[in-house]
Amino acid sequence: MPLVDSHCHLDGPKFADDIDAVLERAFDAGVRRLLGIGTGDGPPGLDCAIRLAEKYPQMLATVGVHPHEASKVTPQSYEDLRSLGRHPKVVAFGEIGLDYHYDFSPREVQREVFVEQLRIASDLKLPIVIHTREAWTDTMAVLREHWSGQGIMHCFTGTPDQAQEALDLGFHLGFGGVLTFRTAEDVRAAAKLVPDDRLLVETDAPYLAPIPWRGKRNEPSYMVETVRKLAEVRGVTPEHIAAVTTANFERLCATQASISSQRYTEISDGN
Ligand code: NI
Repeated sequence: MPLVDSHCHLDGPKFADDIDAVLERAFDAGVRRLLGIGTGDGPPGLDCAIRLAEKYPQMLATVGVHPHEASKVTPQSYEDLRSLGRHPKVVAFGEIGLDYHYDFSPREVQREVFVEQLRIASDLKLPIVIHTREAWTDTMAVLREHWSGQGIMHCFTGTPDQAQEALDLGFHLGFGGVLTFRTAEDVRAAAKLVPDDRLLVETDAPYLAPIPWRGKRNEPSYMVETVRKLAEVRGVTPEHIAAVTTANFERLCATQASISSQRYTEISDGN
C-alpha cells in the first residue's frame, strides 16, 4: 500500500551525503511520494525543494518563506515565489505561518509576510502548508480574514478543539512523529476526531522522529511508525490509513500539478 510523506525537508546538509539511500529506504517502507518543503534557509534559496524534485521523480515540492525567515524577505523574494510557484512540480505553497515560540523574526513582520504569501498562493491557486507554533489564535485570525482555499495544518500538535477549528476552516491535518510520544494524549485525541477525508501523514524529516527513533535524525521510512500509531488510535488498519491519506494527498495536491496521472500511477506502482 503506497504512502505519501506530505512534509519533509531533505534538501539540507543532514541528507547531503546519503539522500539516495534515504529515498531507497523510504521506497522499501512503502513511501512512494514525498512533498519536499522548499523553505530552506529562506530567500534567496527558495528553489531548494524544486531542485530535488527535478532530480527525483517521486518528489514534489513547495515554495514559501518560513516565519523564521520572514525578516529576510525583499520585494524580489515575492517575485521569485510567484515564478517558482509555477514550476510543474510545485503542488503547494509553504510552509508559511507564525512562530511565536522562537520569534526569529518580529511578529509584525511575520504577519505581514504571511498575509502577502497567502495572496500569492491564492493567485497561483495552490493549497497552503501552515506552520503555527504558540500562535494559534493569530494564525486562525489571519486565515479567516485572508484565506478561502484549501490547506494543511502541518505537524498538528494542538488540542481536539483546535483540530475542530481547523477542520471547520476546511483544512486537512497532517500528523507526524509527535503522535507517538508518550505525553501526546491531546494530539492522539485530536487525531481520533479528524474525518478520514481530512487526514494526512508526514515526517517533517529531519525533525521530530517518531518513537523508537525519537531524538535521532528523522527520515521518511520512519513514517511507518506514525502510520501504525494513527491506525491504533483510530481503530483501523495501517492499510486503511495508507489508502485514505494517499487519496487525500492526491486530491489536494497532485492534481494541482501538471503531472500526468499515468506518471503518478507509475510511481505508485514502483517503476
Ligand atoms: Ni517543516
